[in-house]
Amino acid sequence: MDLTSESTTAAVVDSFAGAADPRLREILQELVPHLHDFVRNVKLTLPEWEAAIRFLTEVGQKCDENRQEFILLSDVLGISMLVETINGQESGTESTVLGPFHVVDSPERENGDTIDLIGGQPPCVVTGRVLGTDGTPLPGATVDVWQCSADGFYDVQQPDVQPPGNGRGLFRTDAEGAFAFRTVLPSHYPIPTDGPVGRMLQATGRHPYRPAHIHFIAAAPGFRTLTTHIFVAGSPHLDSDAVFAVKKSLIADFAEVDDAERARRHGVGNPFRAASVDLVLEAERVG
Ligand code: BEZ
Ligand code: FE
Repeated sequence: MDLTSESTTAAVVDSFAGAADPRLREILQELVPHLHDFVRNVKLTLPEWEAAIRFLTEVGQKCDENRQEFILLSDVLGISMLVETINGQESGTESTVLGPFHVVDSPERENGDTIDLIGGQPPCVVTGRVLGTDGTPLPGATVDVWQCSADGFYDVQQPDVQPPGNGRGLFRTDAEGAFAFRTVLPSHYPIPTDGPVGRMLQATGRHPYRPAHIHFIAAAPGFRTLTTHIFVAGSPHLDSDAVFAVKKSLIADFAEVDDAERARRHGVGNPFRAASVDLVLEAERVG
C-alpha cells in the first residue's frame, strides 16, 4: 500500500474511526487534516521537523510544579485566549486567560485582609461584588485572587525574595455579595523568557510584556465559574499584550485617593490607589 501525500491524510483520519469516545474521535479526525495541510503548505523540511520536535521536547522539559511552559506556549500563540473567548460567558463579565501562575492554592483570607505580605508601594484597595446577570448579589461566592509584586514577579518566581502566598488570597463574599482586599498596585511584567517560548519571542522580534493586572477566579454554586483579570488603566502594553488577553471591558481605573480618614479605615498608607470591580456570573446551563 503506497500512500501518497494526500491519501496519508485519509488513512490517518480513518485510523481513528473506531475511537469509542465520539468527542475524542471528532477532535482527532479534525486535527489531522489541519496538521497535514500545514506540513504540505509550508513544505516542512526534515531539519525543520527535527527542530520542532526539539522545541516541543524543551517545552516539556521546562515544566515543573511551578512552571508551565506548555500553557505559556499556548498563551503566546493566542490559543489560550481563543479557547477562553469561544467558551466565555454570553453575558456577564468577560473572561480571559488563566496564565501559568495559578500553580499553588491561594491562602484563605478574610475580607479586608492584605495579600501584599512585603509592603510594596503604592498600596491599593480593591473592593467588589459578585453578582448574577440580573444584578442579584451572590453571598458565599469564592473569589480567588493572584497578582505579581510591584516589581513584576509572582511569589513562585522569587521563592528567596517573596514568602509563599504573597500576592494571593482566597476570599468569600459577605451577605451583600461583597469582597475586599488590600494589596500593592501590580506592575506590568515580562512573561518568563528563560525557556524555549522566550527564545521563540526573541527569534521573531516580539516583546514579552503583559500590562499590569490582577487575576480573579469567581465561583458560586449554580453559576459558571469565571476566570478573568482586571487590568490597570494607563498601564504600558495594554494595546500589545504578549498573550493577546486584554478586553476593554476589563480595564479598571485604579484611581489615586488622597484621604487620610479612608486610608485609616482600610489600614493602608495615604495616598493609596482604589479600584472597584463587579464580577458578574452567568447561571450554569442545564442539560
Ligand atoms: C499571567 O498573567 O500570569 C500570565 C498569563 C500568560 C502568560 C504568562 C503570564
Ligand atoms: Fe498575570
